[in-house]
Formats: sequence, C-alpha cells, structure tokens
Amino acid sequence: MGIRITPSILNADFLHLDREIDRIAKVSDLLHLDVMDNVFVPNFTFDFDQAASIIASSPIPVDAHLMIADVDRLAPAYAHAGSASVTIHAEASNSIYATLRAIKAEGSRAGLALKPGSSIEDYTDYVDDVDMFLIMTVEPGFGGQKFMSSMMEKVAKTRSLIGDRAIWLQVDGGISLETIEIARQAGADTFVAGSAVFNSPDPAEMIMQLRALAESK
Ligand code: DX5
Ligand code: ZN
Repeated sequence: MGIRITPSILNADFLHLDREIDRIAKVSDLLHLDVMDNVFVPNFTFDFDQAASIIASSPIPVDAHLMIADVDRLAPAYAHAGSASVTIHAEASNSIYATLRAIKAEGSRAGLALKPGSSIEDYTDYVDDVDMFLIMTVEPGFGGQKFMSSMMEKVAKTRSLIGDRAIWLQVDGGISLETIEIARQAGADTFVAGSAVFNSPDPAEMIMQLRALAESK
C-alpha cells in the first residue's frame, strides 16, 4: 500500500508562500491547503480568491481541507478552481452526499473529514462515495497542537471499514517523527504535517525522514 505525505503550509511563512511551497514541492505528494473561515473554526487563513490563486500557482496538486461553515456552497468551487482533492467536514455539511458528488463532478477527489468528537460509525454510509477519509488527530483550527493518540482506535475502525476499497485514509494534526509510525500502524496512509515540516531547518529533508518512517511500517 502506497503512502502519501501532504505537507500543510499553515505554519509556513505566508508572506513568501511561493518560496515556501517551492522548498517542499519535489518531495511532497500533494500540498495540504488549510482553509479556515473563523466560523467553523476560531481561526482564519484564506478566502476563496486567495485560496484559488494558491491552487492555480501551486507546482504540485492541492489537497484542500475546508474548515468552513459554508461548505456545501463553496466545496464545488474549490474543485472547479483546480484542487486535486477537496475535503469537507461532516460536521459542517447539511448535504454530504450531494456535496461529495458535486466535488467529483468537477473532476476532483472528494474527502470526508471528522473532528475528534465525531464517530466514524455515524458516517459509514458514505464509504462508497468518498475518495478519502480524514481523521483529525487534533481539534481543527491551529497548527502545532499535540497529536491525540486516542484517535488511533477511530483510524483502525476506518481502515477496516475501507476494506479493499481504494480510499485514502489521512490523519492531520501533530504528525511528526515521534507520531507518524503510530498513525501508520493504526492504518493511516496519507499524512499531513505542518509544524514538523515548516519549523524544521530543512523542510524537504524532514518530509523525506517522515516518508522513510511511514514506509518502514
Ligand atoms: C489543523 C490543520 C492542520 C494543521 C497541521 O486545523 O487542519 O492541517 O495545519 O499542523 P500540525 O502538523 O502542526 O499539527
Ligand atoms: Zn488540515
């Protein structure tokens, strides 16, 4: 089973984003773009126009993680803007099926994210409609938080729900050299890493080390 490293630019230098993205592009599978609206989460990153310009100029495919309240309306626009993958939060959506389908109709992969308090058991019906599940390993909103190892049971349950389907299983929050193997062993195959990468003196080298650890399991 292949693994993917999807660095988050949340902890990168926003004033020099092009340069920051260039530093990690060659060794990353996708660029994880955290979109926060200060409503669904108590933090703001980009509005749609700012995000669309990053998506348009990114040298690698973009994995848009939408932490926004108005997700049913905006998710298809993120797909249309050229995101390779668009992930919606189950807790924010009033029409999960329709929104996942609208994302896919624009040619993007569709992801469904769960906050730490949400159970995968409540969303098993969507297993044939998603291309990725995202199990949050911190409360969404901020980078640099502590990895919640208590989420590993949910990761393992999601892995068994996926069975032999070609669905990616992503973890996001607190992934580092100390935690990536734990998440991998629980069944994750797609790893977001923000502060571990961009607080490192050599972000590309850090991504290679994270990948080597994940691949060794
Ligand atoms: C949190 C974001 C994450 C975050 C990860 O709401 O979704 O992608 O940037 O950052 P670290 O790796 O520092 O936890
Ligand atoms: Zn994220």
